[in-house]
Amino acid sequence: MPQISPGKSTPNAFPHEMLREIYEQPAALRRTLAAYLKEQDLNPSIAASLAAWSNPSGEVLIAASGSSRHSGLAAEIILEDLCGLAVDVEYSSEYSLREGAERRHPSVIVLSQSGETSDTLASLRAARRRGHRTLAITNAAASTMAQEADVSMPLAAGIERAVPATKSFTCQLAVLYLLALYECARLHQMNAATLAAHIAALRALPDSIESQLDPWRSQIAALAAKYKAAASFLYLGRGVHYAIAREGALKLKEASYVHAEGYPTGELKHGPNALVSDRVPLVVLATVDPTLDGSVIRYEKTIQLLRDMQAQGARVIALANTGDTTVPALVSDCIFVAPAPEHLLPIAEVVPLQFFSYFMALEHGVDVDRPRNLSKAVVEQPVA
Ligand code: F6R
Repeated sequence: MPQISPGKSTPNAFPHEMLREIYEQPAALRRTLAAYLKEQDLNPSIAASLAAWSNPSGEVLIAASGSSRHSGLAAEIILEDLCGLAVDVEYSSEYSLREGAERRHPSVIVLSQSGETSDTLASLRAARRRGHRTLAITNAAASTMAQEADVSMPLAAGIERAVPATKSFTCQLAVLYLLALYECARLHQMNAATLAAHIAALRALPDSIESQLDPWRSQIAALAAKYKAAASFLYLGRGVHYAIAREGALKLKEASYVHAEGYPTGELKHGPNALVSDRVPLVVLATVDPTLDGSVIRYEKTIQLLRDMQAQGARVIALANTGDTTVPALVSDCIFVAPAPEHLLPIAEVVPLQFFSYFMALEHGVDVDRPRNLSKAVVEQPVA
């Protein structure tokens, strides 16, 4: 396996942009948070500009593609759980071609790293034709989407060069979480103390991720060597973690050419379990926020599934809270993630999955920064 030069203190030593961009995430998150927070509080001028997007009906529609759509899936749960909004997530390539009268009046979010993806731009334009208020969340403040939407919330991830999205994805999750906090404040869904606690937890995340990067990197390089012969992986997650299961699977496919799919954990036994074998391991998100009843229930159900999988002889890589002793006893390999609130865990737990894709790509000899048949922005000519 190719040798990786030492880590974050010598950034020029990174052999690939993808690895560098994985390591840049704490700094990218800090810059993004600084753009949307005023010290320890929400920024009133951002709240004022979001008023041009916020919706009295409480309906939100998110349109995006690929990884950006996965951050939309996480946002669906976050905006519904924290703010009580009603959120739908569409594939841009479908929403942009939908016809017929629309009786709903959602505020629309388009999510796009590049801000130029043809299908997402077409969705933005379709939403505007329908008279919906629009918000663009992109990593390019001067992009077409940012300019055409009613409101723009740019990320401060910095230029992302590797085709597999990494730092743009975690910064999208951070901005969507911030959007949820702004909506909670607008709707009086959180008192000042609760809001302050959410902001403090968000602000603590970059340091927490930074302290885990090197241990994840060395553990996961070894895991990739161990699992490199697998034919396919099934990634499983519940609730907000399902979005991360989907993202982990997409990242593995595009970076390493190894097949993978993401499913809601509870769907495994409704078909995909027939695939599970020595050559088809599982990657199970089994982190938990012990302060949240719903998270504990999901965790307990996941533990039951892990017991069943152990009895079935499945090979399982799990992600679990640092300090958890139940999960490691039930699985082949366990990656620890420092505890965080339920809706912030995705920002941390996707990082070890990014490392796994990166090291699997190296094991398979793939040019991880430029995988075949893919481009950084899918921009198509209009149909003649
Ligand atoms: C995955 C990836 C793609 C993009 C998708 C949308 O790593 O990069 O799936 O997420 O092509 O691109 P943007 O976000 O630029 O609209």
